[in-house]
Amino acid sequence: MIRINESFQKLQNSYLFAEISQRIQAFQQQNPTQELIRLGIGDVTQPLPSVCVQAMHQAIDELTSSKTFRGYGPEQGYDFLREAIAEHDFQARGANIAADEVFVSDGAKCDVGNFQELFAQDIRLAIPDPVYPVYLDTNVMAGRTGVVYLECRADNNYLPDLPKEPVDLIYLCFPNNPTGASITREQLTLWVNYALENKALILFDAAYEAFIQDEDLPHSIYEIEGADKVAVEFRSYSKTAGFTGVRCAYAVVPKACTAYTAAGDAVSVRDLWMRRQTTKFNGVSYPVQRAAEATYSPEGKAQVKALIQYYLNNAAHIRAALQRMGFSCVGGDNSPYIWVQVEQDAWGFFDFLLNEAGIVCTPGVGFGPCGENHVRISAFNRFDKVQEAMLRIEAALKNSPL
Ligand code: MLT
Repeated sequence: MIRINESFQKLQNSYLFAEISQRIQAFQQQNPTQELIRLGIGDVTQPLPSVCVQAMHQAIDELTSSKTFRGYGPEQGYDFLREAIAEHDFQARGANIAADEVFVSDGAKCDVGNFQELFAQDIRLAIPDPVYPVYLDTNVMAGRTGVVYLECRADNNYLPDLPKEPVDLIYLCFPNNPTGASITREQLTLWVNYALENKALILFDAAYEAFIQDEDLPHSIYEIEGADKVAVEFRSYSKTAGFTGVRCAYAVVPKACTAYTAAGDAVSVRDLWMRRQTTKFNGVSYPVQRAAEATYSPEGKAQVKALIQYYLNNAAHIRAALQRMGFSCVGGDNSPYIWVQVEQDAWGFFDFLLNEAGIVCTPGVGFGPCGENHVRISAFNRFDKVQEAMLRIEAALKNSPL
C-alpha cells in the first residue's frame, strides 16, 4: 500500500497565495465585468530591463551555433554570474564572499524551502510571526514540530526579539515580507552573536534587499562580523529585475558555515548544499544567467534602480493615501509592501476590498496569527492602477463604512 507523508495533513488546506487565487476566481465567476486591481501577491508588472533582454537574445544566438552551443551548465551556476554576484553584491559592500560560495538557482522560494533538508528532524526552529509562509510550511512538510514563534507586533516595531529558549535554525527576512520592517546593523549583530553563542544557523532571506534606501541599513548579513560562520543568505532577481517569470536567484553558503553531527563533529554546510544541489538540481538556463549578469553592468544597475524607484513611488503613494484614510501603516519605505492595521479580521477586510472595491490584497493572518487584523498591500502594479486602487478604496469606505 502506498502511504502518504502524513505531515502534509498538518498543513493548512492550501498555500496562502493559492487560497487567494481561488477566492479571486470565485469572485470573477460571479462578477465577470468587474476589473480587479491586484495588490496581493508580490508579482511584478513592469517589463524586463532592456539590458537583460539584449543579453538573453545574444545568449540564445550563441546556442544556435555549433561553435558556441552549450548543454548542461554547472549546477551551481556559471562562473561569470557567480563572480559578478560576489563582486557587486558583497565585496563592494565590504562583505568577504567568494564566487564559489554562491549557488545560482531558479528561485529564493525553492532555495529557502529546500534548505531545511540539510538538517536533523528534531532541531528547534525559530520562525517570525508573521512571515513568508514557506519557512513554516516546508518544515511542517518535513515533519518538524519544534517551532518557537517570534512575535512581531506594532509594540516591538514588527521586529522579532531573540528567542528566550534555545533554538538551532533561525529564519530572518529583511526587508521583511510582509511587514516591510527593516533591521539595523546593531540589531542584526545581536542575531549573529546569538547564533555564534548557540551554534545555531540563520537562514537570512534578503529577497527585497534592492528596495533598501536608508544608507545606514545593512544589505547583507555578511556585513556583520562572524556571520559567515552562522548564516546562509538568499537573494532573488524576481523583484529586483522583474524576473518573477524568468526565474533566477541565488543562495550564499560561505565555506566557514558549520553545522554539527549528533556527536558534535563540525560539517561544512556548503559541502552539504553542494551535494544536495548537484544531486537534485540541473542549474538555471544559460540565457537567464546571462540576463542576470547584465544587471551588474553600469547600464543594468541604472535600469534596475529605475525599476525599484518606480515601485517605491507606488509604495509611497499607497502609504500616504491609506494614512489619509485613517489607517495606521508601516513599510513601503525600504520595501515594496505596506502593512496596514485594520479593525476587522484580516480575511473579512480582504473580502470587503474584493467585493466593494475590486481590489486584491493579502490578509495578514495568512502570514501567521500575529498578522490578524492586518492586511498587506503590494506596490507591484502600474502607477495608474495604484492611483485608481486608492480612489476605489476611499469610495468603498464612504459607501459602506466598516
Ligand atoms: C509574496 O507575495 O509574498 C511573494 O511574491 C511570494 C513569492 O515571492 O513567492
